[in-house]
Amino acid sequence: MSQPQFNTAITRLFGIKVPILAGGLQWLADADYVAAAVNAGAMGFITAASLPDDAALRAEIRKCREKTGGKPFGVNISMLPKLASHERVDQIIDIVIDEGIPFVETSGRAPTEYLPRLHGAGIKVMHKVPAVRYAISAQKAGVDAVAIVGYECGGHPGMELMSTFVQAATAARSLAIPYVVGGGVGTGEQIVAALAMGAAGVIIGTRFLVAEELNAHPDYKRRVVEAREGDTVMVMQSIRNTVRVLANDTTREVAAIEARGEGSLETLLPLMSGKIGKEAYRTGDTTRGALAMGHALAFTNEVKPFAAIIAQLMEEAGAALARLERLKVG
Ligand SMILES: Cc1cc2nc3c(=O)[nH]c(=O)nc-3n(C[C@H](O)[C@H](O)[C@H](O)COP(=O)(O)O)c2cc1C
Repeated sequence: MSQPQFNTAITRLFGIKVPILAGGLQWLADADYVAAAVNAGAMGFITAASLPDDAALRAEIRKCREKTGGKPFGVNISMLPKLASHERVDQIIDIVIDEGIPFVETSGRAPTEYLPRLHGAGIKVMHKVPAVRYAISAQKAGVDAVAIVGYECGGHPGMELMSTFVQAATAARSLAIPYVVGGGVGTGEQIVAALAMGAAGVIIGTRFLVAEELNAHPDYKRRVVEAREGDTVMVMQSIRNTVRVLANDTTREVAAIEARGEGSLETLLPLMSGKIGKEAYRTGDTTRGALAMGHALAFTNEVKPFAAIIAQLMEEAGAALARLERLKVG
């Protein structure tokens, strides 16, 4: 089966072989994962918030550089207002500049105030948003590209809960800068559809949770393989911090608190704390913690090397293009 080659604004921006970005993953997008993505021809982003301090972030960047043989890669700077202080974001940017990182994926809040420094250092900035209207604002602010995720996505789908399919098309009518779409993307056919609608690539999280190189307990991956698209829920809408995660004991407890009208940072954070999720990746106990994953669980049927997943996606893309050719009558 042949794998098509695509030349898009996103493959050119990131200098990659396939129009696929592996979005930042809290606790999981480390040097092993990002290097695997990059070595497979995609782009990945080390998630700065997963690392306890400056020294650990630098060490992870250097490890990744070694594993990619010097190929470029990115850093994800998640800036959810309640979790990342301005001071910490500034410190991360210092390190990113100092280490010569060429790409940054921002999310959580507008990166406007950081753009002069990042651009001054020659860094390309892709901002991730859950709705096209924020993408338009980011374009005005001057980012180089945007990633727009639909409500199917693992992690933070925003408050508007718009689908990926609709946003892929509306973005084409609203944006001049390159954009990728994500949320539920896990097949090559979907990649072709996204490109057909005007996107220059896709961003993926959930589909890659079964990458062999992802550092998580085998029982966690087994659960991701078993889980289906209907096995996630959205919680924390009551505090305007909606997340899509695996349905488990924790989400049932959280939903009950929210149903009683008692949702608040104080009542929910102890249950949803990232530390519990981190423990689940280490121990494989997926019954507790907020474990981000989305509808693309439909496609996480097997653990295999990152490169094999990318090869499968590109073969499926080739088959989709061939199907379109066959369907044409003129
Ligand atoms: C386990 C997990 C952790 C994530 N952590 C982050 C994060 O720390 N920062 C961020 O910007 N996005 C994060 N995301 C979102 C992904 O980068 C990506 O945008 C999203 O997964 C795409 O949707 P999909 O899951 O349907 O593929 C996370 C997603 C998952 C599944």
